[in-house]
Amino acid sequence: MTDSVRELSESPESTTVVVIGAGPAGLTVANLLRSAGTDCVVLERQTREYVAQRQRAGIVETRAVRMFDSWGLADRVLGGVPHDGILELRVDGEPHLVSDSDGSEGPTARICPQQMLVQKLTAAYLEDGGDLRFEATDVSLHDLTGERPTVRYRTPDGDLRAITCSYVAGCDGDHGISRSAVPDGVLTPYAFDHGIGWLTVLADAPPPDHPLLAVSEQGFAAHFPRGPYTSRYYLQCPPDDEPGAWSDARVWDALRTRLGDPDLVSGPITDREIFRLRSLVHDPMQYGRLHLVGDAAHIVSPMGGKGMNLALYDADLFARAVRDAVHEQDDTGLRTYSARCLRRIWNDQEFSQWMTRMLHDAGDASNSGLFQRGLARAQLDRLFTSAAAGGAFSELMTGMDFGENAGPRPR
Ligand code: APR
Repeated sequence: MTDSVRELSESPESTTVVVIGAGPAGLTVANLLRSAGTDCVVLERQTREYVAQRQRAGIVETRAVRMFDSWGLADRVLGGVPHDGILELRVDGEPHLVSDSDGSEGPTARICPQQMLVQKLTAAYLEDGGDLRFEATDVSLHDLTGERPTVRYRTPDGDLRAITCSYVAGCDGDHGISRSAVPDGVLTPYAFDHGIGWLTVLADAPPPDHPLLAVSEQGFAAHFPRGPYTSRYYLQCPPDDEPGAWSDARVWDALRTRLGDPDLVSGPITDREIFRLRSLVHDPMQYGRLHLVGDAAHIVSPMGGKGMNLALYDADLFARAVRDAVHEQDDTGLRTYSARCLRRIWNDQEFSQWMTRMLHDAGDASNSGLFQRGLARAQLDRLFTSAAAGGAFSELMTGMDFGENAGPRPR
């Protein structure tokens, strides 16, 4: 008997699914399972306040809005405002409006900051009597290949608890414990470092009319709405740069130059970070009864806004698979979970990679050279002038680019 088992104060609880992590992935899994009448317990390491204020993604794509709608949850969990389906790509200060809506019937993308989605998912789950335990530390996973895995954790009071379950959803992000519970050699990581840094700045300043991505010789820049008087900005920088090297004055000067907008209104900067653009896929996304969901399985470069939306896609597939297994005794969804998720993940990785390269290479040629710059500018030109290229772009942005059962299109 191990020390940890001896310390257990009570006999293990039992549930159907233990969800590790209460970010967008874990909270979506929890809400969908609840809607499907399947019990679960969510264990989150941080406090509710901490999770509720973490600022990251900003757009829930059309496919994800329709996913929540199909579960009858869209009105309760999606905040923000409908996205008008227009994106501005500004090249050397010249604006080009492109559609990122595919014109199909049904609800469309929403500008809904991640923290708003997280707050609403948390509230909806708790209102419905969901079991969500914050400040759960020392989470560990056991017997994942057996019939009844056990999840152990420590309560905020220091008591050790155990929960047995049928399935574990590893939704604890890239630095969580779920993936490390899988023995070495089972998962293959496919990683890519773009060699690009982004300074990201949050400020109390007016949002743009449309989400704005700008190509300039001084490097890439972007301006996104995050609220009625809040904006997030991005500035390409060396990946090893320090945020301290970017004074407020330098940030606003660089934004005005790269966005080609000398009159850009500034405001107090409330957050400033630098991160390295990277992409990562783990294959497979399951091991025994553990299923990895969201960032625990994959990271996508931020261009194209796919990170949170991929997490919502995984969550939907996982919840439907559990529902079928528990209520219909059909385990097809669980067996095929990884393969089905990975098909979309690679699709979105490719889209994000293409956009990342195009919008950086077309500007500052010091990294990739003048030949790549010419190619990237040709890609932009095609996007602005060819209806077919524009259509493919908007389809990819909506996430409606391939259906569940899509095969080759009829000619
Ligand atoms: N035990 C319990 N909870 C944990 C542990 C742990 N050991 N480790 C991490 N967590 C929690 C984190 O505190 C966090 O709340 O898991 C959650 C993981 O959330 P995210 O990192 O946001 O991952 P995910 O839910 O997959 O988010 C998907 O949204 O904007 C994006 O960048 C984000 O792309 C990501 C996406």
